[in-house]
Amino acid sequence: MTLEPVGADQAAILAKLHAASFDQPWTAADIAGLLDGPGGYGLAARDEAGAAVGFILARAIAGEAEILTLAVAPSHRRQGVARALVEAAAGVAASLAAESLFLEVAADNAAAIGLYRAAGFAEVGRRRGYYAKAADAAIDALVMRLDLNRTPA
Ligand SMILES: CC(C)(COP(=O)(O)OP(=O)(O)OC[C@H]1O[C@@H](n2cnc3c(N)ncnc32)[C@H](O)[C@@H]1OP(=O)(O)O)[C@@H](O)C(=O)NCCC(=O)NCCS
Repeated sequence: MTLEPVGADQAAILAKLHAASFDQPWTAADIAGLLDGPGGYGLAARDEAGAAVGFILARAIAGEAEILTLAVAPSHRRQGVARALVEAAAGVAASLAAESLFLEVAADNAAAIGLYRAAGFAEVGRRRGYYAKAADAAIDALVMRLDLNRTPA
């Protein structure tokens, strides 16, 4: 597996990966707009054949960075792909002078919460009913933060 920066020209491939991971997929135009927007950047993980098997989109502005989305192809999960993407995105954020990396994750997304805790993120807030799952149900969002100034363990 290799990681490399990804630009808006790859947005259609990223949208396919996103659609395989989320109930409410983002379009290629959504993804291209974020990559081309202020502070936006992306990283893709590729297999030996060069196919994208996961990606992360993030944004770093004015000393703060945010993970916008993260998806790994179902066939490539539990192999450390997301962990590598999060660590690389944190490194880019730090290089862009961000001091914190934030994200929002659905409170029922145990896989992602486990991943972020393992990567050093701490819960710093909760938005009640942030994700609408169905007409009569909503799920809280956890707000998590990684301190990019931390001394490595
Ligand atoms: C969440 C997601 C990105 C994890 O990707 P992944 O490449 O499988 O994750 P990794 O292999 O790097 O896992 C790293 C750690 O995260 C935790 N983790 C990952 N998947 C997990 C699961 N299903 N259950 C519990 N913990 C999990 C574990 O601590 C894992 O370390 P371990 O394998 O040594 O136990 C992937 O499941 C996915 O794309 N899900 C759908 C989209 C999504 O929820 N994105 C995040 C939105 S905020």
